Amino acid sequence: MTRFAVLASGAGTNLQAILDAVASGQIAAEPSLVLTDRPNAKALDRAQAAGIPRAVLPFKDFESRETFTDAVVAEVKSSGADFVVLAGFMRILAPAACEAYPNAIINTHPSLLPAFQGASAVAEAIAYGVTVTGCTVHLIDEELDHGPIIVQEAVPVLPGDDEESLHERIKVVEHRLLPEVVANFAQGRYRVDGRHVALT
Ligand code: GRF
Repeated sequence: MTRFAVLASGAGTNLQAILDAVASGQIAAEPSLVLTDRPNAKALDRAQAAGIPRAVLPFKDFESRETFTDAVVAEVKSSGADFVVLAGFMRILAPAACEAYPNAIINTHPSLLPAFQGASAVAEAIAYGVTVTGCTVHLIDEELDHGPIIVQEAVPVLPGDDEESLHERIKVVEHRLLPEVVANFAQGRYRVDGRHVALT
């Protein structure tokens, strides 16, 4: 069976949506590893509850982004993963990750890219005053939040929203889109042509 690794840094609600989709049979692939850079990430508890192997690689234990990435790739490879999902992984990987898994690292980002790239996308959307933002599930390339887009969906910004309330509304959509993408990817249904991704 196809295997995949999930990298997460925080609450792991997107990881949970993926694990639930594996349990329900929506995703016909097996999680081989949950890897985090944060020893106290709730994602670790979720992985343990689902019986998925876990790895913790604190960024501060490494000399550079390159050596950190090499360690991440080694863990992911040794788990037997065919592809990788970044589900709220807050570290930028060095180019070696894309070389090891070309067009096979999926990321979810809480904005309609290319708007609001980076780690503060939700706060920046509120500060800018946009009335629509959303989420983007895409393949990563060597530039931050830049690779070929698989799917996007708009989410309204409502009067009185703060970062937390807007992020929660975006996550509801991510929890639906990300498992769908993982399911399709596991079945080899995406064809990548430059920046364009077609569902076959
Ligand atoms: C998601 O909104 C993701 O797009 C962003 O971080 C959040 C992670 O949430 N990069 P969770 O840890 O899956 O709950």
